[in-house]
Amino acid sequence: MNYAVLGGGRMGGALIRGMIASGMTSGERITVSSKTPESTAKAASLLGIVAASSNAAAVSTADVVFLCVKPVQSLEVLHAISKELTGKLVISIVAGIRSKALHEAAGEGVRIIRTMPNTAVRLRKGITAIAPDTSATPEDLEIARQIFSSVGSAIEVREEDLDTVTAVSGSGPAFALLMLESLAQGAVDGGLDPEHAKTFATGALAAAAALVHETGETPLALRAEITSPAGTTAAGLGVLEESGFPQAVRGAVRAARNRSIELSSNS
Ligand SMILES: NC(=O)c1ccc[n+]([C@@H]2O[C@H](COP(=O)([O-])OP(=O)(O)OC[C@H]3O[C@@H](n4cnc5c(N)ncnc54)[C@H](OP(=O)(O)O)[C@@H]3O)[C@@H](O)[C@H]2O)c1
Repeated sequence: MNYAVLGGGRMGGALIRGMIASGMTSGERITVSSKTPESTAKAASLLGIVAASSNAAAVSTADVVFLCVKPVQSLEVLHAISKELTGKLVISIVAGIRSKALHEAAGEGVRIIRTMPNTAVRLRKGITAIAPDTSATPEDLEIARQIFSSVGSAIEVREEDLDTVTAVSGSGPAFALLMLESLAQGAVDGGLDPEHAKTFATGALAAAAALVHETGETPLALRAEITSPAGTTAAGLGVLEESGFPQAVRGAVRAARNRSIELSSNS
């Protein structure tokens, strides 16, 4: 299987790093094309993959084309190479651009799968939502599953759920990182040096995720285990509840989802 990556930026690069690290493919099977010859050459040498002279050249030998440019560039990029795309599978990681719009831009005979990975694919710990369009065959879906399983886990969803997935899974790591920064800052306020504060805060978030993952218990049940009546955790949780933390986080997911819908309706 040969792959083309249109847009060797942060997310395209993260995906390729993960795919190569997993051993599911190798650098010589992946061709990249970015906006300029300079950025293409830089991405190719950084990732150990092949540089193409243009988007059209990148896709010419590919079986699977990853669309990894910014949403605003995506339709123009597909439209410009629609002739070369005929008969190929295009896997889009672009947020908020619907299959219908991708199809119109890519032209007849192109199979499309929309996905929403997160940045942890570079560590092979990503989680990717896959939403196949009706043009995709069961074999295409299996290819997408294999690719994204090699860099973490893959879950099939309906296309209409992608806006919510984008909010919770694409943007969610940034929300959790704000929590991590605040936890660490709280520890610095309490007298820890910044390095120790960051280590303990990171450990706390990693512990929370690992507990949910590995015990299968609900976050609520696990939280109850750590919270003794009138203890330290209860004191801290009280402040979070009173200051509207749960509502604020839900509001963040809602805002990100609404923004994704807004972007979709412009496409
Ligand atoms: N960041 C995330 O966590 C995340 C998660 C899920 C999905 N996504 C999606 O991933 C996509 C890329 O995001 P990103 O954060 O990786 O952006 P990025 O770092 O800016 O990468 C975009 C890449 O597209 C290239 N590009 C621009 N115009 C092009 C053209 N005409 N032809 C070919 N390549 C072109 C850019 O080249 P230059 O380097 O020359 O500018 C750059 O390499 C977005 O659609 C986003 O919605 C991102």
